[in-house]
Amino acid sequence: MSADLTGRVALVTGASRGLGFEIAKRLAAGGATVWLNGRDETALAQAAQAIGAGAKALAFDIGDDEATRAAFQKIAGESGLDILVDNVGNRDRRSFGQLDRAAMQAMLAINLVAPFDLARRAVPLMRERGYGRIVNITSIAAEIARGDVAYTASKGGLAALTRGLAAELGPDGITVNAVAPGYFATEANAAMVADPAIAGYLGRRTSLGRWGEPDEIAGAVAFLASAEAAYITGQTLAVDGGYLTHF
Ligand SMILES: NC(=O)c1ccc[n+]([C@@H]2O[C@H](COP(=O)([O-])OP(=O)(O)OC[C@H]3O[C@@H](n4cnc5c(N)ncnc54)[C@H](OP(=O)(O)O)[C@@H]3O)[C@@H](O)[C@H]2O)c1
Repeated sequence: MSADLTGRVALVTGASRGLGFEIAKRLAAGGATVWLNGRDETALAQAAQAIGAGAKALAFDIGDDEATRAAFQKIAGESGLDILVDNVGNRDRRSFGQLDRAAMQAMLAINLVAPFDLARRAVPLMRERGYGRIVNITSIAAEIARGDVAYTASKGGLAALTRGLAAELGPDGITVNAVAPGYFATEANAAMVADPAIAGYLGRRTSLGRWGEPDEIAGAVAFLASAEAAYITGQTLAVDGGYLTHF
């Protein structure tokens, strides 16, 4: 069963693969028209075709101001927008000592400034339609840390942006929430998924004792995007197999 999203229009960033693809698939299964975003047009067209009815490819780099403006002009002209899922998230696993100002700025540009800018562009369209849902994909790294300082800071910032936007957009009836994934067996994590030591670690470290399957993120996002979540805002829902609560 999918949350009922009949007649809604969503934009999911980074939807050509991984968690974004699964989220877009679930929103479309719920009845939404879904704009799938990514930079590679071919991969995006294949993803949209795989989802089928309701899926539309919209290639642009979320770090590119002009491309983002043009994409929103297209969305405004063709469909309007009810739901924004900020799923793109860059990683930089280098240690603190290897990072410089430019690396930090590049991380914040994609993981924090772009979601701010996408929300800025999406909110007027949501107001027009009298319905608005923003779901930011953060990480357990928004709350706890193992290093990865640039990524960790960017996700903590995105969690704070979620709360700030929720406070400011509440009077419009627009809700803003975050979903924080734990360890998911996506393509981006293929090397770690193949490592039995990591599987053993997750066996001990998570309550459910395993990696998350990519499609297991999607129900939480679909719920928060639906009318049923109308009185939930400013929250972060961890979808992490119990990682954050397991001692
Ligand atoms: N996987 C996990 O275990 C995990 C854990 C915690 C948090 N997360 C978070 O969950 C989100 C998704 O993770 P994932 O592992 O599914 O990611 P992924 O497999 O690396 O997918 C990234 C997606 O984003 C697109 N993309 C990258 N940069 C872009 C840009 N500048 N503009 C537009 N699209 C862009 C990629 O397509 P193109 O390359 O064609 O642009 C692709 O569709 C991220 O925010 C990540 O931090 C994931």
